[in-house]
Amino acid sequence: AAVVEHTFVVSQVKMTHLCKETLVTVVNGQLPGPAIEVTEGDSVAVLLVNNSPYNITIHWHGVKQWLNCWADGVPMVTQRPILPNHNFTYRFNVVGQEGTLWWHAHVPFLRATLHGALIIRPRHGAISYPFPNPDMEVPIIIGDWWQLDLPQVDRSMKNGSFDYYASGSTINGKLGDLFNCSGVPEVGYVLDVVPGKTYLLRVINAGLFAEFYLKIAGHNFTVVAADANYVSPYTTDVIAIAPGETVDALVVANATPGSYYMVALPNQAPRPDTQTPEFTTRGMVQYRVNHSSITNGAAALRSRRGAKEDENDEGPSDDVALAPQMPDKHDTVTSFYFHSNLTSLHHLTVPQQVDENLFLVLGLGSICRNGQQSCKRGGNLNESIVVATMNSVSYQHPTKMPLLEAQYYHTGVLLDAMQELPDGPSRAFNFTDKAFIPFGPKEIPLEPSSKATVVRRFRQGAVVDMVFQSTALLQGDSNPMHLHGHNIFLLAQGLGNYNAAKDVARYNLVNPPVKNTVLVPNLGWAAVRFVANNPGVWFMHCHYEFHLSMGMAAVFIVDDSTTADTSLPPPPADFPTCCANDHNLLQ
Ligand code: C2O
Repeated sequence: AAVVEHTFVVSQVKMTHLCKETLVTVVNGQLPGPAIEVTEGDSVAVLLVNNSPYNITIHWHGVKQWLNCWADGVPMVTQRPILPNHNFTYRFNVVGQEGTLWWHAHVPFLRATLHGALIIRPRHGAISYPFPNPDMEVPIIIGDWWQLDLPQVDRSMKNGSFDYYASGSTINGKLGDLFNCSGVPEVGYVLDVVPGKTYLLRVINAGLFAEFYLKIAGHNFTVVAADANYVSPYTTDVIAIAPGETVDALVVANATPGSYYMVALPNQAPRPDTQTPEFTTRGMVQYRVNHSSITNGAAALRSRRGAKEDENDEGPSDDVALAPQMPDKHDTVTSFYFHSNLTSLHHLTVPQQVDENLFLVLGLGSICRNGQQSCKRGGNLNESIVVATMNSVSYQHPTKMPLLEAQYYHTGVLLDAMQELPDGPSRAFNFTDKAFIPFGPKEIPLEPSSKATVVRRFRQGAVVDMVFQSTALLQGDSNPMHLHGHNIFLLAQGLGNYNAAKDVARYNLVNPPVKNTVLVPNLGWAAVRFVANNPGVWFMHCHYEFHLSMGMAAVFIVDDSTTADTSLPPPPADFPTCCANDHNLLQ
Protein backbone atom coordinates (compact mmCIF):
# COMPACT_ATOMS: atom_id res chain seq x y z
CA ALA A 1 0.00 0.00 0.00
CA ALA A 2 1.21 3.47 -0.87
CA VAL A 3 1.11 6.78 0.91
CA VAL A 4 -0.77 9.28 -1.24
CA GLU A 5 0.40 12.79 -0.44
CA HIS A 6 -1.20 16.10 -1.27
CA THR A 7 -0.70 19.72 -0.30
CA PHE A 8 -3.93 21.69 -0.09
CA VAL A 9 -3.39 25.43 -0.04
CA VAL A 10 -6.60 27.17 1.00
CA SER A 11 -6.82 30.72 -0.29
CA GLN A 12 -9.23 33.24 -1.70
CA VAL A 13 -9.28 33.78 -5.45
CA LYS A 14 -11.52 35.78 -7.74
CA MET A 15 -13.74 33.90 -10.13
CA THR A 16 -16.15 35.40 -12.61
CA HIS A 17 -19.52 33.89 -13.44
CA LEU A 18 -22.67 35.63 -14.57
CA CYS A 19 -20.68 38.79 -15.29
CA LYS A 20 -19.75 39.17 -11.66
CA GLU A 21 -16.37 38.76 -10.07
CA THR A 22 -16.70 36.92 -6.76
CA LEU A 23 -14.12 36.19 -4.09
CA VAL A 24 -14.20 32.47 -3.40
CA THR A 25 -12.28 30.32 -0.92
CA VAL A 26 -10.79 27.32 -2.72
CA VAL A 27 -8.04 24.71 -2.53
CA ASN A 28 -5.05 25.19 -4.87
CA GLY A 29 -6.90 27.85 -6.83
CA GLN A 30 -9.34 25.30 -8.27
CA LEU A 31 -13.09 24.75 -8.16
CA PRO A 32 -13.77 21.87 -7.62
CA GLY A 33 -10.61 21.22 -5.66
CA PRO A 34 -8.09 18.48 -6.49
CA ALA A 35 -9.26 14.87 -6.62
CA ILE A 36 -7.55 12.43 -4.27
CA GLU A 37 -7.11 9.07 -5.98
CA VAL A 38 -6.15 6.06 -3.91
CA THR A 39 -6.10 2.30 -4.01
CA GLU A 40 -7.99 0.58 -1.21
CA GLY A 41 -5.52 0.03 1.62
CA ASP A 42 -3.50 3.18 0.90
CA SER A 43 -2.67 5.87 3.42
CA VAL A 44 -3.39 9.50 2.71
CA ALA A 45 -1.47 12.51 4.00
CA VAL A 46 -2.84 15.93 3.17
CA LEU A 47 -0.91 18.97 4.33
CA LEU A 48 -3.44 21.74 4.73
CA VAL A 49 -1.94 25.21 4.44
CA ASN A 50 -4.48 27.78 5.50
CA ASN A 51 -3.84 31.02 3.63
CA SER A 52 -7.46 32.09 3.94
CA PRO A 53 -8.87 34.51 6.51
CA TYR A 54 -11.12 31.76 7.94
CA ASN A 55 -10.72 28.96 10.45
CA ILE A 56 -10.70 25.78 8.38
CA THR A 57 -11.09 22.05 8.89
CA ILE A 58 -11.43 19.39 6.19
CA HIS A 59 -13.73 16.39 6.55
CA TRP A 60 -13.14 13.21 4.52
CA HIS A 61 -16.78 12.52 3.87
CA GLY A 62 -17.57 8.81 4.19
CA VAL A 63 -14.08 7.66 5.15
CA LYS A 64 -14.59 5.37 8.12
CA GLN A 65 -11.57 6.66 10.07
CA TRP A 66 -11.32 3.45 12.06
CA LEU A 67 -9.59 4.28 15.38
CA ASN A 68 -8.72 7.62 13.84
CA CYS A 69 -11.43 10.02 14.91
CA TRP A 70 -8.80 12.75 15.32
CA ALA A 71 -8.63 13.08 11.53
CA ASP A 72 -12.39 13.44 10.97
CA GLY A 73 -12.17 17.21 10.61
CA VAL A 74 -15.18 18.64 12.43
CA PRO A 75 -14.38 21.85 14.29
CA MET A 76 -15.24 21.69 18.01
CA VAL A 77 -16.33 18.08 17.63
CA THR A 78 -13.07 16.34 16.72
CA GLN A 79 -10.54 19.16 16.56
CA ARG A 80 -9.64 22.76 17.16
CA PRO A 81 -9.83 24.67 13.90
CA ILE A 82 -6.79 25.38 11.76
CA LEU A 83 -6.40 29.12 12.10
CA PRO A 84 -5.41 31.48 9.28
CA ASN A 85 -1.68 31.14 8.54
CA HIS A 86 -1.53 27.75 10.25
CA ASN A 87 -0.94 24.27 8.82
CA PHE A 88 -1.95 20.78 9.73
CA THR A 89 -1.39 17.39 8.08
CA TYR A 90 -4.40 15.10 8.01
CA ARG A 91 -3.37 11.42 7.98
CA PHE A 92 -5.74 8.53 7.46
CA ASN A 93 -6.01 5.09 5.89
CA VAL A 94 -8.61 4.06 3.37
CA VAL A 95 -9.46 0.46 4.24
CA GLY A 96 -12.40 -1.73 3.28
CA GLN A 97 -14.09 0.84 1.08
CA GLU A 98 -14.18 1.12 -2.73
CA GLY A 99 -15.85 3.67 -4.95
CA THR A 100 -16.42 7.39 -4.71
CA LEU A 101 -16.30 9.55 -1.62
CA TRP A 102 -15.36 13.18 -1.35
CA TRP A 103 -13.75 15.72 0.90
CA HIS A 104 -15.06 19.11 1.97
CA ALA A 105 -14.45 21.86 4.45
CA HIS A 106 -16.56 21.34 7.55
CA VAL A 107 -16.80 25.05 8.21
CA PRO A 108 -20.25 26.56 7.80
CA PHE A 109 -21.06 27.17 4.15
CA LEU A 110 -17.48 27.17 2.90
CA ARG A 111 -17.89 23.64 1.66
CA ALA A 112 -19.70 25.27 -1.26
CA THR A 113 -16.29 25.97 -2.74
CA LEU A 114 -13.89 23.84 -0.67
CA HIS A 115 -14.51 20.31 -1.94
CA GLY A 116 -13.26 17.62 -4.26
CA ALA A 117 -13.53 13.93 -5.12
CA LEU A 118 -11.95 11.08 -3.17
CA ILE A 119 -11.70 8.09 -5.49
CA ILE A 120 -10.92 4.65 -4.10
CA ARG A 121 -9.97 1.94 -6.60
CA PRO A 122 -9.86 -1.76 -5.77
CA ARG A 123 -6.61 -3.22 -4.48
CA HIS A 124 -6.26 -5.52 -7.46
CA GLY A 125 -7.06 -2.89 -10.04
CA ALA A 126 -10.03 -2.22 -12.28
CA ILE A 127 -10.18 -5.92 -13.16
CA SER A 128 -11.78 -6.54 -9.79
CA TYR A 129 -14.66 -4.14 -10.31
CA PRO A 130 -17.84 -6.18 -9.95
CA PHE A 131 -19.05 -4.68 -13.26
CA PRO A 132 -17.73 -4.36 -16.83
CA ASN A 133 -14.38 -2.64 -16.79
CA PRO A 134 -14.94 0.99 -17.84
CA ASP A 135 -12.74 2.55 -20.54
CA MET A 136 -12.63 5.81 -18.64
CA GLU A 137 -13.58 7.18 -15.23
CA VAL A 138 -14.92 10.69 -14.79
CA PRO A 139 -15.82 12.60 -11.63
CA ILE A 140 -19.06 14.56 -12.03
CA ILE A 141 -19.33 17.03 -9.16
CA ILE A 142 -22.62 18.87 -8.94
CA GLY A 143 -22.47 22.07 -6.93
CA ASP A 144 -23.79 25.58 -6.49
CA TRP A 145 -22.43 28.93 -7.49
CA TRP A 146 -22.84 31.58 -4.81
CA GLN A 147 -22.40 35.29 -5.21
CA LEU A 148 -23.09 35.92 -1.53
CA ASP A 149 -20.55 36.13 1.26
CA LEU A 150 -21.02 32.61 2.61
CA PRO A 151 -19.78 33.05 6.21
CA GLN A 152 -22.19 35.99 6.38
CA VAL A 153 -25.06 33.79 5.18
CA ASP A 154 -24.27 31.39 8.02
CA ARG A 155 -24.36 34.19 10.59
CA SER A 156 -27.68 35.41 9.25
CA MET A 157 -29.18 31.94 9.36
CA LYS A 158 -28.03 31.44 12.92
CA ASN A 159 -29.76 34.71 13.62
CA GLY A 160 -33.03 33.44 12.28
CA SER A 161 -33.30 34.64 8.70
CA PHE A 162 -33.02 32.02 6.03
CA ASP A 163 -34.09 33.17 2.60
CA TYR A 164 -30.84 32.79 0.72
CA TYR A 165 -30.27 31.23 -2.65
CA ALA A 166 -27.35 30.23 -4.77
CA SER A 167 -27.01 32.08 -8.05
CA GLY A 168 -26.64 28.95 -10.10
CA SER A 169 -25.78 25.28 -10.25
CA THR A 170 -22.61 23.78 -11.62
CA ILE A 171 -21.25 20.57 -13.07
CA ASN A 172 -17.53 20.31 -12.34
CA GLY A 173 -17.44 24.01 -11.55
CA LYS A 174 -19.07 25.14 -14.83
CA LEU A 175 -22.48 26.79 -14.99
CA GLY A 176 -23.48 25.91 -18.54
CA ASP A 177 -25.28 27.61 -21.34
CA LEU A 178 -28.57 28.14 -19.55
CA PHE A 179 -26.82 30.83 -17.56
CA ASN A 180 -25.83 34.00 -19.26
CA CYS A 181 -25.39 37.65 -18.74
CA SER A 182 -25.27 40.32 -21.41
CA GLY A 183 -26.39 37.65 -23.83
CA VAL A 184 -23.23 35.59 -23.46
CA PRO A 185 -23.99 32.00 -22.42
CA GLU A 186 -21.58 30.45 -19.94
CA VAL A 187 -19.56 27.50 -21.11
CA GLY A 188 -20.71 24.24 -19.57
CA TYR A 189 -18.86 21.08 -18.66
CA VAL A 190 -18.11 18.92 -21.70
CA LEU A 191 -17.48 15.19 -21.60
CA ASP A 192 -15.89 13.99 -24.83
CA VAL A 193 -16.78 10.36 -25.54
CA VAL A 194 -15.71 7.81 -28.12
CA PRO A 195 -18.50 5.71 -29.67
CA GLY A 196 -18.88 2.30 -28.04
CA LYS A 197 -16.77 3.08 -24.99
CA THR A 198 -17.97 2.70 -21.40
CA TYR A 199 -17.62 5.55 -18.90
CA LEU A 200 -17.77 5.28 -15.13
CA LEU A 201 -19.26 8.52 -13.84
CA ARG A 202 -18.43 9.21 -10.21
CA VAL A 203 -21.24 11.56 -9.30
CA ILE A 204 -21.01 13.72 -6.17
CA ASN A 205 -23.56 16.22 -4.90
CA ALA A 206 -21.45 18.92 -3.28
CA GLY A 207 -24.31 21.42 -3.34
CA LEU A 208 -25.41 23.10 -0.14
CA PHE A 209 -29.14 23.05 -0.52
CA ALA A 210 -30.55 20.98 -3.30
CA GLU A 211 -31.10 17.43 -4.27
CA PHE A 212 -30.42 17.05 -7.99
CA TYR A 213 -31.76 15.03 -10.87
CA LEU A 214 -29.06 14.15 -13.38
CA LYS A 215 -29.85 12.99 -16.90
CA ILE A 216 -28.03 12.63 -20.20
CA ALA A 217 -30.22 12.84 -23.28
CA GLY A 218 -30.42 9.59 -25.22
CA HIS A 219 -28.44 7.58 -22.63
CA ASN A 220 -29.13 5.36 -19.65
CA PHE A 221 -27.12 4.98 -16.49
CA THR A 222 -26.32 1.70 -14.81
CA VAL A 223 -25.88 2.55 -11.13
CA VAL A 224 -23.19 0.31 -9.62
CA ALA A 225 -22.29 1.96 -6.32
CA ALA A 226 -23.58 4.52 -3.84
CA ASP A 227 -21.56 6.08 -1.00
CA ALA A 228 -18.59 3.84 -1.92
CA ASN A 229 -20.54 0.61 -1.50
CA TYR A 230 -21.44 -1.57 -4.46
CA VAL A 231 -25.12 -1.91 -5.29
CA SER A 232 -26.95 -4.36 -7.52
CA PRO A 233 -26.71 -2.91 -11.03
CA TYR A 234 -29.72 -0.70 -11.57
CA THR A 235 -30.53 0.79 -14.95
CA THR A 236 -32.25 4.14 -15.03
CA ASP A 237 -32.38 7.25 -17.18
CA VAL A 238 -32.26 9.52 -14.13
CA ILE A 239 -30.01 9.72 -11.08
CA ALA A 240 -31.38 11.38 -7.94
CA ILE A 241 -28.66 12.57 -5.61
CA ALA A 242 -28.93 14.52 -2.38
CA PRO A 243 -26.23 16.72 -0.80
CA GLY A 244 -23.54 14.46 0.62
CA GLU A 245 -24.44 11.41 -1.45
CA THR A 246 -22.28 9.85 -4.15
CA VAL A 247 -23.40 7.59 -6.99
CA ASP A 248 -21.20 5.60 -9.37
CA ALA A 249 -22.86 4.87 -12.68
CA LEU A 250 -21.78 3.37 -16.00
CA VAL A 251 -22.74 5.09 -19.22
CA VAL A 252 -22.11 3.47 -22.60
CA ALA A 253 -21.56 5.83 -25.52
CA ASN A 254 -23.95 3.87 -27.71
CA ALA A 255 -26.11 6.60 -29.20
CA THR A 256 -25.92 8.08 -32.68
CA PRO A 257 -22.73 10.17 -32.61
CA GLY A 258 -23.60 13.76 -31.87
CA SER A 259 -24.10 16.12 -28.95
CA TYR A 260 -26.25 15.30 -25.95
CA TYR A 261 -26.96 17.57 -23.05
CA MET A 262 -26.15 16.40 -19.53
CA VAL A 263 -28.54 18.23 -17.23
CA ALA A 264 -28.57 18.64 -13.45
CA LEU A 265 -31.88 19.95 -12.11
CA PRO A 266 -32.30 20.93 -8.46
CA ASN A 267 -35.55 19.46 -7.21
CA GLN A 268 -37.61 20.39 -4.23
CA ALA A 269 -41.19 19.87 -3.21
CA PRO A 270 -43.26 23.00 -3.74
CA ARG A 271 -43.38 25.34 -0.80
CA PRO A 272 -46.62 26.99 0.07
CA ASP A 273 -45.19 30.42 0.61
CA THR A 274 -42.15 30.95 -1.57
CA GLN A 275 -41.09 30.52 -5.14
CA THR A 276 -37.66 28.97 -5.03
CA PRO A 277 -35.65 29.81 -8.10
CA GLU A 278 -34.77 26.97 -10.43
CA PHE A 279 -31.15 26.70 -11.48
CA THR A 280 -30.87 23.85 -13.90
CA THR A 281 -27.36 23.49 -15.25
CA ARG A 282 -26.39 22.00 -18.56
CA GLY A 283 -23.20 20.29 -19.65
CA MET A 284 -22.72 18.17 -22.71
CA VAL A 285 -21.70 14.73 -23.82
CA GLN A 286 -19.93 15.18 -27.12
CA TYR A 287 -19.09 12.25 -29.41
CA ARG A 288 -15.67 12.24 -31.03
CA VAL A 289 -16.20 10.34 -34.22
CA ASN A 290 -12.72 10.49 -35.68
CA HIS A 291 -9.71 12.69 -35.39
CA SER A 292 -10.47 15.03 -38.23
CA SER A 293 -13.94 15.78 -37.01
CA ILE A 294 -13.28 16.28 -33.31
CA THR A 295 -15.58 19.06 -32.36
CA ASN A 296 -14.45 21.34 -29.70
CA GLY A 297 -17.25 20.74 -27.25
CA ALA A 298 -17.04 24.15 -25.68
CA ALA A 299 -17.30 25.78 -29.09
CA ALA A 300 -20.24 23.55 -29.87
CA LEU A 301 -21.92 24.69 -26.69
CA ARG A 302 -21.39 28.30 -27.58
CA SER A 303 -22.70 27.92 -31.09
CA ARG A 304 -25.79 25.89 -30.35
CA ARG A 305 -28.81 28.03 -30.00
CA GLY A 306 -31.45 25.57 -28.99
CA ALA A 307 -32.06 22.07 -27.85
CA LYS A 308 -34.41 19.40 -28.95
CA GLU A 309 -36.16 17.40 -26.26
CA ASP A 310 -35.55 13.75 -25.79
CA GLU A 311 -39.03 12.41 -26.34
CA ASN A 312 -38.26 9.84 -28.95
CA ASP A 313 -35.07 7.98 -29.44
CA GLU A 314 -33.70 9.56 -32.57
CA GLY A 315 -30.30 11.16 -32.45
CA PRO A 316 -29.62 14.85 -32.50
CA SER A 317 -29.85 16.70 -35.79
CA ASP A 318 -26.79 18.49 -37.10
CA ASP A 319 -27.11 21.81 -35.41
CA VAL A 320 -29.13 21.03 -32.32
CA ALA A 321 -28.01 19.02 -29.32
CA LEU A 322 -30.53 16.65 -27.83
CA ALA A 323 -31.75 17.69 -24.37
CA PRO A 324 -33.15 15.20 -21.88
CA GLN A 325 -36.68 15.49 -20.65
CA MET A 326 -36.28 16.27 -16.96
CA PRO A 327 -38.63 15.37 -14.12
CA ASP A 328 -40.67 18.23 -12.76
CA LYS A 329 -38.62 20.34 -10.38
CA HIS A 330 -41.16 19.64 -7.66
CA ASP A 331 -41.15 15.89 -8.25
CA THR A 332 -40.06 14.15 -5.04
CA VAL A 333 -41.52 10.78 -6.00
CA THR A 334 -38.88 10.04 -8.63
CA SER A 335 -36.23 10.57 -5.98
CA PHE A 336 -38.09 8.29 -3.58
CA TYR A 337 -38.18 5.51 -6.18
CA PHE A 338 -34.55 5.98 -7.16
CA HIS A 339 -33.44 5.62 -3.56
CA SER A 340 -35.83 2.75 -2.82
CA ASN A 341 -34.47 0.81 -5.80
CA LEU A 342 -30.95 0.55 -4.40
CA THR A 343 -29.89 -2.73 -2.82
CA SER A 344 -26.48 -3.90 -1.79
CA LEU A 345 -24.69 -5.99 -4.43
CA HIS A 346 -23.91 -8.74 -1.95
CA HIS A 347 -25.86 -10.29 0.85
CA LEU A 348 -24.77 -8.75 4.13
CA THR A 349 -24.57 -9.81 7.72
CA VAL A 350 -26.90 -7.29 9.29
CA PRO A 351 -26.88 -7.69 13.07
CA GLN A 352 -30.34 -8.73 14.23
CA GLN A 353 -30.07 -8.02 17.94
CA VAL A 354 -30.74 -4.32 18.44
CA ASP A 355 -29.45 -2.64 21.61
CA GLU A 356 -30.76 0.89 21.24
CA ASN A 357 -33.65 2.48 19.43
CA LEU A 358 -33.83 6.13 18.53
CA PHE A 359 -36.84 7.83 17.04
CA LEU A 360 -35.73 11.17 15.68
CA VAL A 361 -38.26 13.73 14.59
CA LEU A 362 -36.77 16.30 12.23
CA GLY A 363 -38.36 19.67 12.40
CA LEU A 364 -38.20 23.34 13.09
CA GLY A 365 -38.71 25.05 16.37
CA SER A 366 -38.25 28.44 17.86
CA ILE A 367 -36.18 29.78 20.69
CA CYS A 368 -36.54 33.13 22.36
CA ARG A 369 -33.91 35.75 21.79
CA ASN A 370 -31.85 37.03 24.70
CA GLY A 371 -32.57 34.09 26.95
CA GLN A 372 -36.15 35.17 27.52
CA GLN A 373 -38.38 32.45 28.90
CA SER A 374 -41.41 33.31 26.89
CA CYS A 375 -41.76 35.29 23.72
CA LYS A 376 -43.90 35.50 20.63
CA ARG A 377 -42.89 32.36 18.76
CA GLY A 378 -42.67 31.66 15.10
CA GLY A 379 -42.39 34.23 12.41
CA ASN A 380 -41.87 37.14 14.78
CA LEU A 381 -38.14 37.55 14.36
CA ASN A 382 -37.91 40.39 16.82
CA GLU A 383 -38.57 38.06 19.69
CA SER A 384 -37.71 34.57 18.55
CA ILE A 385 -35.37 32.71 16.24
CA VAL A 386 -36.36 29.79 14.06
CA VAL A 387 -34.06 26.79 14.59
CA ALA A 388 -33.82 23.34 13.03
CA THR A 389 -34.27 20.48 15.47
CA MET A 390 -34.18 16.76 16.19
CA ASN A 391 -36.71 15.88 18.88
CA SER A 392 -37.12 19.60 19.54
CA VAL A 393 -33.51 20.28 20.45
CA SER A 394 -31.26 22.36 18.27
CA TYR A 395 -27.55 21.56 18.29
CA GLN A 396 -24.84 24.06 19.01
CA HIS A 397 -21.09 23.44 19.14
CA PRO A 398 -19.25 23.76 22.44
CA THR A 399 -17.12 26.87 22.41
CA LYS A 400 -14.23 26.11 24.75
CA MET A 401 -12.98 22.64 23.93
CA PRO A 402 -13.70 20.09 21.20
CA LEU A 403 -15.83 17.19 22.38
CA LEU A 404 -13.29 14.57 21.34
CA GLU A 405 -10.62 16.19 23.46
CA ALA A 406 -13.04 16.33 26.40
CA GLN A 407 -13.96 12.68 25.90
CA TYR A 408 -10.38 11.48 25.47
CA TYR A 409 -8.98 13.33 28.46
CA HIS A 410 -12.15 12.87 30.53
CA THR A 411 -12.57 16.59 30.97
CA GLY A 412 -16.29 16.58 30.26
CA VAL A 413 -16.92 19.07 33.06
CA LEU A 414 -15.58 21.78 30.78
CA LEU A 415 -18.37 21.36 28.32
CA ASP A 416 -20.97 24.06 28.21
CA ALA A 417 -24.62 23.25 27.70
CA MET A 418 -24.20 19.55 26.98
CA GLN A 419 -27.47 17.65 26.87
CA GLU A 420 -28.51 14.11 26.09
CA LEU A 421 -30.31 13.70 22.80
CA PRO A 422 -33.88 13.04 23.96
CA ASP A 423 -35.76 9.97 22.88
CA GLY A 424 -38.90 9.68 20.90
CA PRO A 425 -41.31 12.24 19.61
CA SER A 426 -41.88 15.12 21.95
CA ARG A 427 -45.47 15.36 20.82
CA ALA A 428 -47.95 13.18 19.09
CA PHE A 429 -49.35 14.48 15.86
CA ASN A 430 -49.51 13.56 12.26
CA PHE A 431 -45.96 14.59 11.39
CA THR A 432 -46.48 14.79 7.69
CA ASP A 433 -49.90 16.41 7.67
CA LYS A 434 -49.53 19.47 5.53
CA ALA A 435 -52.07 21.28 7.67
CA PHE A 436 -49.31 21.55 10.21
CA ILE A 437 -47.15 23.85 8.09
CA PRO A 438 -46.68 26.85 10.33
CA PHE A 439 -45.77 29.50 7.79
CA GLY A 440 -47.86 31.41 5.37
CA PRO A 441 -50.47 34.06 5.78
CA LYS A 442 -51.68 32.85 9.16
CA GLU A 443 -48.67 31.82 11.17
CA ILE A 444 -48.95 28.97 13.61
CA PRO A 445 -46.38 29.35 16.38
CA LEU A 446 -43.51 26.92 16.25
CA GLU A 447 -42.92 24.64 19.15
CA PRO A 448 -40.64 26.08 21.83
CA SER A 449 -37.26 24.41 21.52
CA SER A 450 -33.93 24.61 23.22
CA LYS A 451 -30.35 24.91 22.05
CA ALA A 452 -27.72 22.58 23.45
CA THR A 453 -24.64 20.55 22.65
CA VAL A 454 -26.70 17.46 22.00
CA VAL A 455 -24.89 14.17 22.51
CA ARG A 456 -25.77 10.51 22.79
CA ARG A 457 -23.36 7.98 24.27
CA PHE A 458 -23.05 4.37 23.09
CA ARG A 459 -21.04 1.51 24.44
CA GLN A 460 -18.61 0.20 21.84
CA GLY A 461 -20.30 -2.44 19.73
CA ALA A 462 -23.87 -1.36 20.44
CA VAL A 463 -26.28 -2.05 17.60
CA VAL A 464 -28.37 1.06 17.10
CA ASP A 465 -31.60 1.52 15.18
CA MET A 466 -32.62 5.00 14.18
CA VAL A 467 -35.81 6.10 12.53
CA PHE A 468 -35.71 9.56 11.02
CA GLN A 469 -39.19 11.00 10.76
CA SER A 470 -39.56 14.03 8.56
CA THR A 471 -42.33 16.52 9.25
CA ALA A 472 -44.44 18.93 7.31
CA LEU A 473 -42.61 21.65 9.21
CA LEU A 474 -39.73 21.15 6.82
CA GLN A 475 -42.00 21.99 3.90
CA GLY A 476 -40.23 21.27 0.64
CA ASP A 477 -37.13 19.62 2.01
CA SER A 478 -36.02 16.07 2.10
CA ASN A 479 -33.28 15.47 4.65
CA PRO A 480 -29.99 13.81 3.79
CA MET A 481 -28.87 12.60 7.23
CA HIS A 482 -25.15 11.89 7.46
CA LEU A 483 -23.30 9.92 10.13
CA HIS A 484 -19.54 10.25 10.44
CA GLY A 485 -17.21 7.32 11.08
CA HIS A 486 -19.69 4.53 10.44
CA ASN A 487 -21.50 2.76 7.65
CA ILE A 488 -25.23 2.58 8.02
CA PHE A 489 -27.63 -0.03 6.71
CA LEU A 490 -30.63 1.62 5.12
CA LEU A 491 -33.34 -0.86 6.11
CA ALA A 492 -36.47 0.82 4.81
CA GLN A 493 -37.93 4.12 3.79
CA GLY A 494 -41.48 5.27 3.36
CA LEU A 495 -43.83 8.17 2.86
CA GLY A 496 -46.04 9.53 5.62
CA ASN A 497 -45.75 8.58 9.27
CA TYR A 498 -43.51 5.74 10.39
CA ASN A 499 -45.56 3.01 11.99
CA ALA A 500 -43.44 0.42 13.79
CA ALA A 501 -46.30 -2.07 13.93
CA LYS A 502 -46.25 -2.52 10.18
CA ASP A 503 -42.99 -0.98 8.96
CA VAL A 504 -40.55 -3.17 10.90
CA ALA A 505 -41.81 -6.10 8.85
CA ARG A 506 -40.58 -4.32 5.72
CA TYR A 507 -36.97 -4.01 6.87
CA ASN A 508 -34.48 -5.34 4.36
CA LEU A 509 -32.06 -7.36 6.49
CA VAL A 510 -30.63 -9.26 3.53
CA ASN A 511 -29.11 -6.75 1.14
CA PRO A 512 -29.89 -3.21 2.33
CA PRO A 513 -27.80 -0.46 0.73
CA VAL A 514 -24.88 0.59 2.92
CA LYS A 515 -24.67 4.36 3.11
CA ASN A 516 -23.05 7.21 4.97
CA THR A 517 -25.79 9.67 3.99
CA VAL A 518 -29.42 8.56 4.07
CA LEU A 519 -32.07 10.55 2.31
CA VAL A 520 -35.16 10.90 4.45
CA PRO A 521 -37.91 11.43 1.88
CA ASN A 522 -39.90 14.61 1.86
CA LEU A 523 -42.89 14.00 4.18
CA GLY A 524 -41.60 10.52 4.94
CA TRP A 525 -39.20 8.49 7.04
CA ALA A 526 -36.11 6.30 6.83
CA ALA A 527 -35.10 3.46 9.14
CA VAL A 528 -31.41 2.66 9.54
CA ARG A 529 -29.18 0.43 11.65
CA PHE A 530 -25.53 0.83 12.50
CA VAL A 531 -22.99 -0.74 14.80
CA ALA A 532 -21.38 1.86 17.06
CA ASN A 533 -17.98 0.21 16.85
CA ASN A 534 -15.60 3.09 16.17
CA PRO A 535 -14.51 4.80 19.39
CA GLY A 536 -14.60 8.58 19.33
CA VAL A 537 -17.11 11.35 18.85
CA TRP A 538 -18.95 11.45 15.58
CA PHE A 539 -21.09 14.16 14.10
CA MET A 540 -24.53 13.14 12.84
CA HIS A 541 -26.35 15.82 10.91
CA CYS A 542 -28.47 16.90 8.02
CA HIS A 543 -26.30 17.58 4.99
CA TYR A 544 -28.54 20.46 3.91
CA GLU A 545 -26.34 23.32 4.94
CA PHE A 546 -29.09 25.51 6.28
CA HIS A 547 -30.55 22.71 8.41
CA LEU A 548 -27.05 22.09 9.77
CA SER A 549 -26.40 25.75 10.35
CA MET A 550 -29.72 26.05 12.17
CA GLY A 551 -28.98 23.07 14.41
CA MET A 552 -30.22 19.79 12.92
CA ALA A 553 -27.33 17.80 14.35
CA ALA A 554 -26.13 15.72 17.28
CA VAL A 555 -22.90 14.07 18.35
CA PHE A 556 -22.61 10.35 18.94
CA ILE A 557 -19.99 9.37 21.48
CA VAL A 558 -18.74 5.80 21.11
CA ASP A 559 -16.89 4.66 24.22
CA ASP A 560 -13.50 3.06 24.16
CA SER A 561 -13.36 -0.62 24.83
CA THR A 562 -11.09 -2.12 27.43
CA THR A 563 -8.84 -3.70 24.81
CA ALA A 564 -6.10 -1.55 23.36
CA ASP A 565 -6.60 -2.72 19.77
CA THR A 566 -10.08 -1.22 19.67
CA SER A 567 -9.25 1.90 21.64
CA LEU A 568 -8.63 5.34 20.24
CA PRO A 569 -4.90 6.14 20.21
CA PRO A 570 -3.68 9.59 21.34
CA PRO A 571 -3.97 12.59 19.01
CA PRO A 572 -1.28 13.23 16.39
CA ALA A 573 1.73 15.14 17.70
CA ASP A 574 1.09 18.16 15.48
CA PHE A 575 -2.64 18.39 16.29
CA PRO A 576 -3.92 21.99 16.32
CA THR A 577 -3.73 23.32 19.86
CA CYS A 578 -4.91 26.79 19.33
CA CYS A 579 -6.05 28.82 22.22
CA ALA A 580 -6.52 28.37 25.89
CA ASN A 581 -9.74 26.73 26.95
CA ASP A 582 -11.15 29.99 28.25
CA HIS A 583 -11.22 31.34 24.70
CA ASN A 584 -14.31 31.03 22.61
CA LEU A 585 -12.76 28.84 19.92
CA LEU A 586 -15.58 29.45 17.51
CA GLN A 587 -14.64 33.07 17.07
CU1 C2O B 1 -20.12 15.75 4.52
CU2 C2O B 1 -20.41 16.28 8.49
O1 C2O B 1 -20.28 16.11 6.49
